[in-house]
Amino acid sequence: MAVKFGRPLERKIGFVPAEADATEIQRNPLDLTVRMRRNRRAEWARRMVREHVLTTDNLIWPLFIRDGDNARTPVPSMPGVERLSVDQAVREAERAANLTIPCIALFPYTDPGLRDETGSEALNPDNLVCRAIRAIKKEVPDIGILCDVALDPFTSHGHDGLLRDGVILNDETVAVLVRQALVQAEAGCDIIAPSDMMDGRVGAIRKALDRNDFTDVSIMSYAAKYASAFYGPFRDAVGSSKTLTGDKRTYQMDPGNTDEALREVALDVEEGADMIMVKPGMPYLDIVQRVKETFAMPTFAYQVSGEYAMLMAAAQNNWLDGERAMMESLIAFKRAGCDGVLTYFAPRVAEKLKSSG
Ligand code: PBG
Repeated sequence: MAVKFGRPLERKIGFVPAEADATEIQRNPLDLTVRMRRNRRAEWARRMVREHVLTTDNLIWPLFIRDGDNARTPVPSMPGVERLSVDQAVREAERAANLTIPCIALFPYTDPGLRDETGSEALNPDNLVCRAIRAIKKEVPDIGILCDVALDPFTSHGHDGLLRDGVILNDETVAVLVRQALVQAEAGCDIIAPSDMMDGRVGAIRKALDRNDFTDVSIMSYAAKYASAFYGPFRDAVGSSKTLTGDKRTYQMDPGNTDEALREVALDVEEGADMIMVKPGMPYLDIVQRVKETFAMPTFAYQVSGEYAMLMAAAQNNWLDGERAMMESLIAFKRAGCDGVLTYFAPRVAEKLKSSG
């Protein structure tokens, strides 16, 4: 197609007004004072009026940690994602820091032999997550480290809390989560991220951190976390999908609710959360928008494993332009009001932003 001054000269193929109509339109154009397309007509103009931009500062990169040395295991339901031994996680943390990704999130794949009814390995100061925190802090001191507080990677039944007679116990679980948070803070974790959805856990963790001289350790609460099918691939990655008995609907939120999300967030803010998170991400952007508007808190969303898997699967089939869909999905989070996104795409996005910046 011929191009003149950066504009294509449309060829007369397909539907074009008949010669007579064309002359008529020229003589008598639509009487429009406002033509929205003026602001879209060139890349410079589109850039000038763009309301939201994505930067690497908006990214938190979740990593899966496994035992061993110099080892990487692909997660089949998450193409491009691997479980990393601690030394490999250190390398990826270095890569993240070089890409100016501000923060990484660590999730352990706990050896099945170390899982038990009460998730006791969560309290082992030398567990996989704690070893990874220490190794990364030593080699890459300037990157933020966020850790989940919840028992599911450690329990034989795959639940986030203590289970008795088929019921997840709230207050007993909170007592354990407090100890898990302290163990992680002691290892050097910067941001404690309770993902368990027990009532009162944020306040209890805040109090315990403060009493133990961890006043500088932040809390990002998974404040509005829904009982979602989109967590499936994550459970493969941490090895809890086969072990999970039942579902998590007695503690995670019902997907039909939105006012309830505001109550959850209000409680966590009151209890001392520094930052709040909505999860999953893309199917819940209405929640992000209400939360940001209502609380004006630093607000994050988790673009969860299932969202990542869907985009990757479609891209691998050439059903979507994967790169563009990835970038579009992330700007959608910004537009809805997110300050940042936990996303498995983080390094790819950061690389792309770097090469286009
Ligand atoms: C653990 C936890 C889950 C995720 C983050 N922390 C799974 C769950 O609640 O079952 C999901 C993350 C993802 O799907 O990428 N409580």
